[in-house]
Amino acid sequence: MPTGSGWSPRLDYMTGCTIVGSRNTPVNQCSRPTGWFGRFTLWRMNSSHSKLTDWGLGHISMENHHTILDVGCGGGRTVSKLAAIATQGKVYGVDYSDESVAATKGTNVRWIDLGRVEIRHGSVSDLPFPDGMFDLVTALETHFWWPNLPGDMREVFRVMKPGGGTLVLIAEIYKGANTMAARFAEKYASRTGMSLLSVNEHGELLTNAGYSDVQVIEERAKGWISGVGRKPIANS
Ligand SMILES: C[S@@+](CC[C@H](N)C(=O)[O-])C[C@H]1O[C@@H](n2cnc3c(N)ncnc32)[C@H](O)[C@@H]1O
Repeated sequence: MPTGSGWSPRLDYMTGCTIVGSRNTPVNQCSRPTGWFGRFTLWRMNSSHSKLTDWGLGHISMENHHTILDVGCGGGRTVSKLAAIATQGKVYGVDYSDESVAATKGTNVRWIDLGRVEIRHGSVSDLPFPDGMFDLVTALETHFWWPNLPGDMREVFRVMKPGGGTLVLIAEIYKGANTMAARFAEKYASRTGMSLLSVNEHGELLTNAGYSDVQVIEERAKGWISGVGRKPIANS
């Protein structure tokens, strides 16, 4: 765990992520995986986030013809799960880490060959997709790293289909959760750069960005959270 006035070389395990730091130059392998350690972290997250993914996706309805985007696709396991459901549709993944883009492509090579999955390099702040493209956008264990949450939520809103496109934010950590990982993350948020929101703040974030039918669901025992919102037709 971080101690004293700076970071010394170390490995820390937090919510399935590996944080590697050296004094004054913390590199967080969860926020932007790089190099061999990034590859290791992505491999680890593919299994450690699997149950959380299933729980979060259980709160939304998906149809087999849906066009879906996974933002911050990381190691690519969520893209695989979505592709298995959207048998007549297509799943896109986007991530600003070269390592994550490569890992997601590797995990989904079969789906990519079949034309069912496409992975792009890009930031949530400037998504490489046209307006109104997606029936569903998923974002797993990533939104707390986004550089401008209100603006980035509007950018996601832009690419969603008006009149029913759905966004689901899923995380195993949030402000106020009664878990050791959440308390640890809150304590060191200023060093890691995480923007942790409470349950109410998640609701406000979605509502203020224009989403309707907003729901924030907690799995209190595990400290998991899921925020769901739809793009209404009036805001198209
Ligand atoms: C903790 S990992 C989660 C990966 C995957 N969603 C999962 O659940 O295993 C966060 C991912 O979000 C990506 N990410 C963070 N900020 C981003 C941004 N501004 N734009 C695009 N991707 C971002 C990181 O590169 C990383 O791959």
